[in-house]
Amino acid sequence: MRTARGKDMTTPAITGTGVYTPKEIITNDELVAAFNTYAEGFNAENAGAIAAGKVAAKELSSSEFIVNASGIKQRYVMDRSGVLDPDVMHPILRARDDAEPAIMAEMALAAANRALAASGRDPADVDLVICAASNHERAYPAIAIEIQKLLGAGGFAFDMNVACSSATFGIQAAADMVRAGSARCALIVNPEICSAHLEWRDRDCHFIFGDVCTATIVEPAGVAKGAHFVIRSTRCATQFSNNIRNNNGYLRRTRPGQMQDRRDMQFMQEGRKVFKEVLPLVSKHIARHLDQEGVTADQLKRLWLHQANKSMNDFIGRKVLGRVPSPDEQPNILQDYANTSSAGSIIAFSKYCDDLIPGDTGLICSFGAGYSVGSVLVERA
Ligand code: COA
Repeated sequence: MRTARGKDMTTPAITGTGVYTPKEIITNDELVAAFNTYAEGFNAENAGAIAAGKVAAKELSSSEFIVNASGIKQRYVMDRSGVLDPDVMHPILRARDDAEPAIMAEMALAAANRALAASGRDPADVDLVICAASNHERAYPAIAIEIQKLLGAGGFAFDMNVACSSATFGIQAAADMVRAGSARCALIVNPEICSAHLEWRDRDCHFIFGDVCTATIVEPAGVAKGAHFVIRSTRCATQFSNNIRNNNGYLRRTRPGQMQDRRDMQFMQEGRKVFKEVLPLVSKHIARHLDQEGVTADQLKRLWLHQANKSMNDFIGRKVLGRVPSPDEQPNILQDYANTSSAGSIIAFSKYCDDLIPGDTGLICSFGAGYSVGSVLVERA
């Protein structure tokens, strides 16, 4: 649809992105030192039971393993003091009064203001807020509605959760609404406090996650004020799997014996199975999406992938392009941020998109729990 002035009002475009990065960093060496002190303390405390074969001894972690297995060198977190205290081993975040902004809303505001500045929009222009993340700090009212109020945005707002694919699924929802005319200026925010659902006492996964918030503005291409990326198309797919799971939920207290500190109330995964099953799923998903759009691998200037694991990204890049991608074709940010769930591919996009020139095509792709895969094919306008 075009307006009287000939503006394209139905092609959605990404007109701005923003990233809020927490101030605190934990390096692999710091993480491993805290974990190993905890593990040695646990083993000393349980020496009798370990010797009797009743309790398994905790094995030590190593920075070398972490960087080789994942490519992660450090992570940003909302609180490092609790995570690095062997007697605590989780972040400590101040309790907030109901009259204060939610912590996710506060992170979202910081990222949103950057995205709005990039798109040349005022908060009052926003008429749709989607808070798309792996966890929400309360059941209701929606965090997105609080963000809408704090920003001074209009329209409507809602929360959604598709774990690691929340951002791309959120972009598809917003793009579809822009196409249909039910939204004119959509803000998708992805506040991910992964440190709060990570089991820092488990060496198999304690290195995986970090915290961040990303924001994306989606508007009709015809009203974009500056450089922007037209959303040529989106594809979302899901396939049920228990291999990444978190059993925390509102029915917890209704189930006898489920109020105690239990491993399954945090992030759990069968890492090897995820690796094996998700890689073919994602490679085929991207190949099909590109094929349906008539885009060949050679025409793809950039791949902004989900940021969980360097080997996974290397594999997908090779499959999609049919050769080893150069670092600037498939930028990774996971070495600095670790896995930030839904925000990872958007951080990569936000940091590595400015050099593309009009006509250049790229693909944002996220994948993870569910399983879920979301891809967004964009073209620099
Ligand atoms: N330090 C030292 N050794 C460790 C360790 C640590 N922190 N964690 C695990 N190990 C050991 C294991 O005990 C195992 O020892 P074993 O061979 O004697 O049994 C060995 O290292 C290999 O462990 P494994 O878990 O099989 O490692 P991996 O090479 O599969 O890498 C992941 C682990 C998590 C990095 C990898 O499976 C992965 O990236 N999976 C993709 C899923 C993902 O990232 N999901 C995130 C949510 S989307």
